[in-house]
Amino acid sequence: MTAIRPLVAGNWKMNGLGGALGELVALRDRLEKAPVPEADVMVCPPATLLSRAAGILADTPIALGAQDCHPLASGAHTGDISAEMLADAGATAVIVGHSERRIDHGETDELVNAKAHAAFRAGLTAIICVGETEEQHRNGETVDVLTGQVQGSMPEDARASNTVLAYEPVWAIGSGLTPTLEDVARLHEGLRENLGQVLGPDQGGAMRILYGGSVKPSNAAELMFVPNVNGALVGGASLKASDFYEILAVYRGSSAT
Ligand code: PGA
Repeated sequence: MTAIRPLVAGNWKMNGLGGALGELVALRDRLEKAPVPEADVMVCPPATLLSRAAGILADTPIALGAQDCHPLASGAHTGDISAEMLADAGATAVIVGHSERRIDHGETDELVNAKAHAAFRAGLTAIICVGETEEQHRNGETVDVLTGQVQGSMPEDARASNTVLAYEPVWAIGSGLTPTLEDVARLHEGLRENLGQVLGPDQGGAMRILYGGSVKPSNAAELMFVPNVNGALVGGASLKASDFYEILAVYRGSSAT
């Protein structure tokens, strides 16, 4: 099987006014001086910054993603943003089903699945997030929860070319905690099997599975080279260009691709 090209994606969440675009400029300039051709890189700022970010990132290797979309293309849904609108603003990808949306907004697997379809309809890559809560983790329910979320959230027509799966244990997000490397390996292997069951072995075997949850410069090198980890979804450490670049740079000179 050909190796899977890694992706390091930064999720800014609800952070960043116009001044934060300076970090994008810094990242762009850093990558120009010291490229990391071994991995793909993406930044997902808040929707309000997408158009301006698209201008900064044009003709650079940094892809632009959004953080959520509505399942429909347009209509009477005050405050919502469609996948088509995100594409129009310059995004090429969108995160769907992040645990903060599942928890804050009660998003179900069915809705996340519909949002992933909306992403495909608009020509965007869907980054579909799954992950167990602290309580589910404590109760030993992680494998069942992840299997259910993949089966429910991953459209059967998803392809490795337009979809990325991100595993983010809820208890690891923003907490500084991470699972053991053994657990990451075991759970990513299980997710790879889940993908094979939903999508078939070819697509399931080729799809990127990102790890997310307290990835930072000090732990990226070990996490990123765990088998079946094909990159990272980075929250807090993506807000500073220097930290985010350091995470991406663990792939420099590697044969991960
Ligand atoms: P964190 O967030 O890196 O700040 O833990 C990750 C995420 O929620 O995508």
